[in-house]
Amino acid sequence: MNQHNIGILVGSLRKGSYNKNIAQFILDQNPTSFCYKIIEIGDLPLYNQDFDDEGPTPETYIRFRKEIASLDAVLFISPEYNRSVPAVLKNAIDVGSRPYGKNQWDGKPAAILTSSTGVYGGFGANHHLRQSLVFVNIHPMQQPEAYLGNIKDSVGTDGKIASQKTIEFLLSFKNAFE
Ligand SMILES: Cc1cc2nc3c(=O)[nH]c(=O)nc-3n(C[C@H](O)[C@H](O)[C@H](O)COP(=O)(O)O)c2cc1C
Repeated sequence: MNQHNIGILVGSLRKGSYNKNIAQFILDQNPTSFCYKIIEIGDLPLYNQDFDDEGPTPETYIRFRKEIASLDAVLFISPEYNRSVPAVLKNAIDVGSRPYGKNQWDGKPAAILTSSTGVYGGFGANHHLRQSLVFVNIHPMQQPEAYLGNIKDSVGTDGKIASQKTIEFLLSFKNAFE
């Protein structure tokens, strides 16, 4: 059975992040031929083209770009910040797309799940992210769309997804992606 390596990029660095809770739920599912792992993005310095043009290239950029290159697909799990993509996630996309001509995202399949404590479930971030993905040539799944609103109500105090409805949705989303 071929193993498919899927990287999860979480758009929140917060310790108690609900989006991290969702990512953990995906990681906790029984292993299949789809192997998920979190790709660290919080240690990437803000992108500055001088790093690539003049060096030195930060070690974290080298590590991150290698990790992205090794992936078969990418799963984005993110909150919405001010109706858009959190800067830490946009920065990671920028870092992976450069230096010019070495876009590590090129052609990769992906899926996007946004969640928020608000009612709209990160709709704005989800679609702003799609705009960047067009340019870096990532192919995100179209359906089912995933905007999880009021996410706080779906997560227990232990950080586990507690709502049966949300669990069922996450499993069907994961199945569709795979
Ligand atoms: C800077 C900032 C901007 C935010 N903007 C939005 C927003 O535009 N829409 C929304 O639904 N929630 C917004 N929120 C609330 C987030 O949905 C909420 O903090 C959520 O818990 C963040 O995800 P996390 O739990 O994974 O860290 C914002 C939060 C922060 C810190």
